[in-house]
Amino acid sequence: MMNLMYPIIGPIGIFDSGYGGLTILEKIRQQLPQYDYLYLGDNARTPYGTRSFEVVYEFTLQAVRKLFELGCPLVILACNTASAKALRSIQQNDLPYLDPTRRVLGVIRPTAESIGPLTVSRHVGLLATEGTVRSQSYLMEIQKLYPDITLTANACPLWVPLIENNEFESEGADFFVRKYINQLLEKDPQIDTLILGCTHYPLLIRKIRQFTPPHIRLVAQGEYVACSLKDYLHRHPEIEERCTTQGKCQFLTTESEEKFQESASLFLHQQVKVRSITLE
Ligand code: DGL
Repeated sequence: MMNLMYPIIGPIGIFDSGYGGLTILEKIRQQLPQYDYLYLGDNARTPYGTRSFEVVYEFTLQAVRKLFELGCPLVILACNTASAKALRSIQQNDLPYLDPTRRVLGVIRPTAESIGPLTVSRHVGLLATEGTVRSQSYLMEIQKLYPDITLTANACPLWVPLIENNEFESEGADFFVRKYINQLLEKDPQIDTLILGCTHYPLLIRKIRQFTPPHIRLVAQGEYVACSLKDYLHRHPEIEERCTTQGKCQFLTTESEEKFQESASLFLHQQVKVRSITLE
């Protein structure tokens, strides 16, 4: 796959286990509308949040390979679980063999960076999937950047299934939204800033806001990831010049096209054309 003489040019790849990455794609496109994007949702195998390290790594590597095959010079893992469990191994062990001239970036570092100036109490909460919480990736990043911040996390295993099944506005969702927020605030009542550490959660934001005390600031990742990508492309012209710029966006799913179309249109408020693929 490696081709050092004729560098691959193509769209920026955006990968998520399902629909959550669409919340990141939307913000990235608002800030960087000139580029082409290729979104891949592994909807057939979502959720990743409760899967083992090995499985998330394997699935994520398959997705990166596919997006490389389709010409992406840069892939964003728009999924905290994949960023937590697979990014480092892919960057360190796989990229040198796959193609050392391309890049794979995640969403945890840019989110962690954003936190420092936002919290006054220096007590920050994290709501995320079980996998992201267990990986302690946020804790490690935040400790490196802001050692004075106390981070307390709570896993929300039922939020992604609620979202993937279009139940995020239903009354049934209230119980689990309230439950996980209360669990977190019982662990640390001094929290003044709350990271929504899963790219699916902005879809639940109305309910999360409803059940979170008003003095607590909610941090959704999209804008921070978009800013960080903009900055990255500015600092890395060798990657930037390989990203094509016709303002196009294409979608791939491992589920059926009908199913993706129906839900993605709901999340993006527009009709999308999608192609079904298999990952292996
Ligand atoms: N949206 C993903 C994240 O940011 C993962 C959800 C899942 O597949 O469990 O963690």
